[in-house]
Amino acid sequence: MFKIEKTGPIADKIYEMWVNAPHVAHHAQAGQFVIFRIDEKGERIPLTVSAVDGDSIRVVFMAIGKTTTHLASLRAGDAVQDVAGPLGKPSEIKKYGTCVLVGGGVGTACLPIIGHALRAAGNRVIGIVGARNAGLLILEEEMKKACDELHISTDDGSKGFHGFAADLLKQAMAREKIDAVWIIGPTIMMKVTAEATRPAAIRTFVSVNPVMVDGTGMCGSCRVTVGGETKFACVDGPEFDAHQVDFNALMQRMRTYQPEEKASLEKFQEHQCKLGGGHHA
Ligand SMILES: Cc1cc2nc3c(=O)[nH]c(=O)nc-3n(C[C@H](O)[C@H](O)[C@H](O)COP(=O)(O)OP(=O)(O)OC[C@H]3O[C@@H](n4cnc5c(N)ncnc54)[C@H](O)[C@@H]3O)c2cc1C
Ligand code: FES
Repeated sequence: MFKIEKTGPIADKIYEMWVNAPHVAHHAQAGQFVIFRIDEKGERIPLTVSAVDGDSIRVVFMAIGKTTTHLASLRAGDAVQDVAGPLGKPSEIKKYGTCVLVGGGVGTACLPIIGHALRAAGNRVIGIVGARNAGLLILEEEMKKACDELHISTDDGSKGFHGFAADLLKQAMAREKIDAVWIIGPTIMMKVTAEATRPAAIRTFVSVNPVMVDGTGMCGSCRVTVGGETKFACVDGPEFDAHQVDFNALMQRMRTYQPEEKASLEKFQEHQCKLGGGHHA
């Protein structure tokens, strides 16, 4: 069992959770993830290692379905059954020159650890964080510390630049030479934003989120097409060359289980209601 040390909301439907997981904490590198299983009957869900402190790791997640809603209902002192990892290939950290990190929504949680690693490797790091509105912006202070400069955008103009993170990326490219870019956020946002760097052939990475089951390359559920080849995101990724990923096929695969996911969330919420509003209510 893995003890939850601290947990709580940091934005609308977005939660951070610190879990005591010494093995992961001592071995995790930027870009890697863990697979959580809340209890013996629980499904496995992949979550990125967002920060490490001593024997503990932090995950930041959005409560969007059954398991993430259940996870959000847990409290400090509770425990989760499994935290398997670290899994996946670490981010390709080396000296590029000037790097831009672009975060969309909860995807921003993956970036501070990458920013620190890139700066330790001698890069200048520009951060761009985008969200639909100011209430959905997360980890701004942490991003300031992980980057040499930070720019904010909101779709509705409630904070920072009124527009998309992709616009700020284009502005950064117009201002100076950019050598590498990471874009992590909703799949559609990664697809669209990656087009900004394609004409200039700037090395661009995205972290893809296909459905995962075992996380070890055995089940094939996380397959993605990259450069015309089939890759398994859990062992070959989750970060890939943004200009080679077949985003349309990825988005289609990610919709496969939507009816079952909706039914599962509704059943869980019904059960929570019968219990009187949740495990800890
Ligand atoms: C490598 C990786 C890292 C991730 N890191 C984060 C993170 O740091 N924070 C975060 O909020 N989310 C992250 N995700 C997505 C997260 O795993 C899903 O949001 C979660 O599994 C949803 O489970 P659910 O039961 O709450 O929702 P469901 O209702 O079951 O699903 C909602 C949506 O989540 C996705 N999903 C469902 N089950 C899985 C699964 N087993 N594996 C992957 N995706 C699934 C699907 O797109 C689905 O449509 C990551 C996914 C991957 C692949
Ligand atoms: S999750 Fe099974 S092969 Fe990747």
